[in-house]
Amino acid sequence: MCGWVKSKHKIFYGDCLYILNKIPSESIDLIIADPPYGLAKKKGLGWAYSKHVTLEEEWDLFSKDGFFKFNKEWINECVRVLKHGGSLWVMGSFHNIYQLGFIIQHIMDLKINNSIVWFKPNAQPNITCRFFTESTEHLIWASKNGEGKKWIFNYEDTKNKISDDLNPKGKQTRNVWKIPLTTKKEKWAGHHPTQKPEELIRRIILACTNKGDTILDPFLGSGTTSAVAKNMGRNSIGIEKERKYLSIIKKRINPLQKKINEDTEIEYINV
Ligand SMILES: C[S@@+](CC[C@H](N)C(=O)[O-])C[C@H]1O[C@@H](n2cnc3c(N)ncnc32)[C@H](O)[C@@H]1O
Repeated sequence: MCGWVKSKHKIFYGDCLYILNKIPSESIDLIIADPPYGLAKKKGLGWAYSKHVTLEEEWDLFSKDGFFKFNKEWINECVRVLKHGGSLWVMGSFHNIYQLGFIIQHIMDLKINNSIVWFKPNAQPNITCRFFTESTEHLIWASKNGEGKKWIFNYEDTKNKISDDLNPKGKQTRNVWKIPLTTKKEKWAGHHPTQKPEELIRRIILACTNKGDTILDPFLGSGTTSAVAKNMGRNSIGIEKERKYLSIIKKRINPLQKKINEDTEIEYINV
């Protein structure tokens, strides 16, 4: 990773359905979306042996039809702002990934290049003891191929700069990635219930962009995409609607809290 390449980062505070509308068509090289799962309950489930409680965030509560409508709307806008030859990566659990895949493949008619299984070797135990223990999340990689342009895949980088127990360095990277849950060290800037590991985002950016490209994350959360994009010399646009996460994003994208960034331009926009 290198932090010295000058890059530009915009953070929008507001609802992505509204803000995506303001982004010009075909202006984005890569979209990384980690949307609501639609699995939250008003009261999360906990158990005596662990501090872990299932998700009870307001932003994850939807009606069944409301969830489908929401997913169609933001994906539609993402496809509009994506350049031809650009990639759309969407991640989720079994609760939402099939619906997202249906919309991307059937309604938007994009080409799906891969589905990746993210295996979490240290996943949380199952609280109810009535199901197998969930230890994976799923990522869909689709591309918008038009006007004679096709997706970027930095094949040599994927071979040489990605490795884990299932993917030896120097070999082709498989579509199963072994990455532990986000470490405490990466959570230094504050608590977000679904903060993703930087390594997960790094692999996507490494494979599908080049330096100077622009990456959009419509569900920025704790700012992982912007922080990793900055370290890798890519530009980013992030959107987050919960005020409580903004301070985490700001700390992560500008850890030294510099007033003027010599290597980076950062703009915070309240909508
Ligand atoms: C699954 S989390 C993303 C976590 C992120 N990948 C990270 O590493 O921190 C989804 C985020 O989307 C935000 N969100 C939900 N609905 C939104 C909307 N309509 N517009 C913008 N942000 C939204 C939530 O507040 C939450 O922080």
